[in-house]
Amino acid sequence: MSCKLKIGILGSGKGSNFLAIQNAIEQGKLSAEVRVVLSDVENAGILDYARRKGLNAVFVPPGKFRTKLEPAAEQKCVEILREAGVELVVLAGFMRMLKSIFLDAFDGRVVNIHPSLLPAFAGLEAWKQALDYGVHYTGCTVHYVTREMDAGPIIAQAVVPVLPEDTPEKLHARIQAEEHLIYPQAIQWIAEGKLTMSGRRG
Ligand code: GAR
Repeated sequence: MSCKLKIGILGSGKGSNFLAIQNAIEQGKLSAEVRVVLSDVENAGILDYARRKGLNAVFVPPGKFRTKLEPAAEQKCVEILREAGVELVVLAGFMRMLKSIFLDAFDGRVVNIHPSLLPAFAGLEAWKQALDYGVHYTGCTVHYVTREMDAGPIIAQAVVPVLPEDTPEKLHARIQAEEHLIYPQAIQWIAEGKLTMSGRRG
């Protein structure tokens, strides 16, 4: 159907959020279409999942930096996403900061999921940061991407209790179960035109 939101997904890891989004689409809960999946990691699980679903899945060599893409790699991503007609870019475990070539091209049209209740515990291994800090509740956040790391307007959050017997792995698994619910829901709100970059529901 032509009214489906055309999305492009970027991920560096195993791809469980991609799968949750694709499953929500297949179950008719999310009115979107995955046009392309990109990864900066050649053997990332997300590329395997995407290929098994018959989707266009592309490895983009990131270049020499560890925490961001080289400008030429950002430009390459922009070209692939544009060619695929992508309207919304969905970061699903993409572990590099996007810079101005990318963010100018998709201004206000990039969303991310982060495994904590932002603004607490931005950055890497947020579930471990929460456990080490000793908070009793953490969770996950879907937000628009801005130039600052893990800091854009918030679209959706889910709360997860931290249990006495938690290990980093157990806590992350429970956070991920919530991610898989709120990310497709947040994208559906955008598809319905209920959200703007301000994060407000219309
Ligand atoms: C998710 O927990 C996501 O919140 C996190 O990476 C994981 C990816 O899992 N993202 C970040 O930490 C971004 N700062 P997945 O590959 O199974 O979707």
